[in-house]
Amino acid sequence: MKIAVLLSGSGTNLQSLLDAEAAGFFKSEIALVVSNKADAYGLKRAEAMNKKTYVEGDDDLVSVLEKEGIDFIVLAGYLKILSGDLLHRYEGRIINIHPSLLPAYGGKGMYGIKVHEAVFEAGEVRSGATVHYVNETVDGGKILLQSSVDIRRLRSPKEIQETVLVLEHELLKTAVRFCEEGIL
Ligand code: GRF
Repeated sequence: MKIAVLLSGSGTNLQSLLDAEAAGFFKSEIALVVSNKADAYGLKRAEAMNKKTYVEGDDDLVSVLEKEGIDFIVLAGYLKILSGDLLHRYEGRIINIHPSLLPAYGGKGMYGIKVHEAVFEAGEVRSGATVHYVNETVDGGKILLQSSVDIRRLRSPKEIQETVLVLEHELLKTAVRFCEEGIL
């Protein structure tokens, strides 16, 4: 698969994918890294690995992706709702990683530390990460993979976030491998 990774921020999940590609963990190529924010640190990570980057502007994203021959999209901390046209063109070929055990703690407004604050305040015993297909419902597409951890010893939302992020990095590269093998 020729993959585009879409992000808005730090890009540690992108880094995990770049490292996995370099290590031969999956066969797919990360052909393009897209950000809706010009100052996203993830773009620097991409450039450091000599990856092509694109900052969203006025051009239609679908045509940019098609021009690059992209056939699979990974959302990794992309804080923007995708347009209907893009969802339609890439139906069944877009995955997202979310830092909770969906369907719990998902949906509009549930992103970043807010997710972990809600989990912490609810006194959950476990939390984790979910990779799911993307459709028009925020965090509502078919769940592909989940990984969970006991969080009873963790003392703050930040500690939960850091712990879940480690799970995310393993989960996302595994999801890419399963998708390219047609398992998921
Ligand atoms: C991750 O927690 C991911 O689950 C969520 O956004 C965060 C992105 O982190 N969708 P990073 O930019 O990959 O470090």
